[in-house]
Amino acid sequence: MPEPTSIAPAEGKLGILTPGMGAVATTFVAGVLAARKGFATPFGSLTQMAHIRLGKRTEKRNPMIKDFVPLAGLNDLEFGGWDPYSDDAYTSAMKAGVLDPRHVENIGEELRLIKPMHAVFSHDWVKNLDAVDHVKYETSYMTLAENLMEDIDRFRAEKQVDRLAMVWCGSTEAYRDIGAAHQDVDAFEAGLKSNDPTISPSQIYAYAALQMGVPFANGAPNITVDAPALVQLSKERGVPIAGKDFKTGQTLMKTMVAPGLKARMLGINGWFSTNILGNRDGAVLDDPDSFRSKEVSKLGVLDQILEPEVYPDLYGDIYHKVRINYYPPRGDDKEGWDNIDIFGWLGYPMQIKIDFLCKDSILAAPIVLDLALFMDLAARAGKSGIQEWLSFYFKSPQHAEGLYAENDLFIQLTKLKNNLRDMMGEDMITHLGTEYYEED
Ligand SMILES: NC(=O)c1ccc[n+]([C@@H]2O[C@H](COP(=O)([O-])OP(=O)(O)OC[C@H]3O[C@@H](n4cnc5c(N)ncnc54)[C@H](O)[C@@H]3O)[C@@H](O)[C@H]2O)c1
Repeated sequence: MPEPTSIAPAEGKLGILTPGMGAVATTFVAGVLAARKGFATPFGSLTQMAHIRLGKRTEKRNPMIKDFVPLAGLNDLEFGGWDPYSDDAYTSAMKAGVLDPRHVENIGEELRLIKPMHAVFSHDWVKNLDAVDHVKYETSYMTLAENLMEDIDRFRAEKQVDRLAMVWCGSTEAYRDIGAAHQDVDAFEAGLKSNDPTISPSQIYAYAALQMGVPFANGAPNITVDAPALVQLSKERGVPIAGKDFKTGQTLMKTMVAPGLKARMLGINGWFSTNILGNRDGAVLDDPDSFRSKEVSKLGVLDQILEPEVYPDLYGDIYHKVRINYYPPRGDDKEGWDNIDIFGWLGYPMQIKIDFLCKDSILAAPIVLDLALFMDLAARAGKSGIQEWLSFYFKSPQHAEGLYAENDLFIQLTKLKNNLRDMMGEDMITHLGTEYYEED
């Protein structure tokens, strides 16, 4: 058995900070508050619902993950965040319209107390948000970062939290390649001082978080911590980072179905994915620059899972198209269609149609909870830099240079659970199975 990692206990309170207090963030907070009061069950969350098998099947050891690894409990969480709109969490949840008002009313008092801090925001990075009224105005990006650090300190003192985790739940920023300012910490800090236009607001939050020793996970497809300077800073400061883009909806389906088709060596000619979506996220993604960030994140998964270079006959000529259409009447009730043109024995064609009528934020909220709790666990276990074991939660998992991202949901789950086993000094599960058949 491996040596267990030394993990500091989850004593005291954990503060979860979300830049962005829109649909996903408020659905997450409301869900935790409701679960805490016994009004709801945290379905979709591995930290709250899943078991983990330990040892041989004959040992019948199968504890819940939350009883196996030392995680912060739901009663020990405090919530805070930033938003360029001044709405408190109650008003924002009502406007987002994800949850039924009677659910929100049950916890209305607590939600009203969660008021956003002034945001670091720029229309250069998120175009389709009008009339923002709750923004920090400073002359230098470095001063903005320092302002965020003061916010973090104030939150820590007011809520008397012992530890913090930050999960980006803000709008998708415009797509930009990383530039010279992202190459190392020195260049990045010089860029913060000179207001380098290639540094995004989300990167200013990430910088502030890492400087304050706060783990940072990125739920949107923007680059943020996926840049050498911020990876370096996370290692230097000994802080975990993870990203990017919560794996929900259509990509979740894709990373379940594609490994299955590949497992049976069924070929694919085309995969057309289209969505209609009417929430604020949909409005932001209606801007081509923000959509580009999403498109890059969504397109990558098939290539990695199917390995067209290894299987050119099966996957060498796929037409893969992804569309997102803003359609206000649906609100948060997204509809994602997939048409998959596949072929089998002797090349005979077949089709698969998936029509997923999902609720985007209902799928994303438990991911925010799990990421915050696991990032806090990672920090207490002394882990820093990229947390690849959390790739299960991301459309576009961050990975070390020179590696490819693992996108197959089932490999990602095995990776996550094996990391937990390893942390706690339990044997990996190899699924070899031969030990049950060996003669004495
Ligand atoms: N299933 C999902 O819902 C899902 C899946 C993957 C990724 N995401 C991503 O998660 C993010 C949140 O999604 P949502 O549905 O809650 O969107 P939303 O529009 O309801 O909420 C985003 C919030 O971020 C705020 N914001 C924008 N720029 C900000 C900044 N610089 N600082 C602080 N706040 C800022 C906006 O005002 C808004 O209130 C989006 O980037 C989205 O692409 C969501």
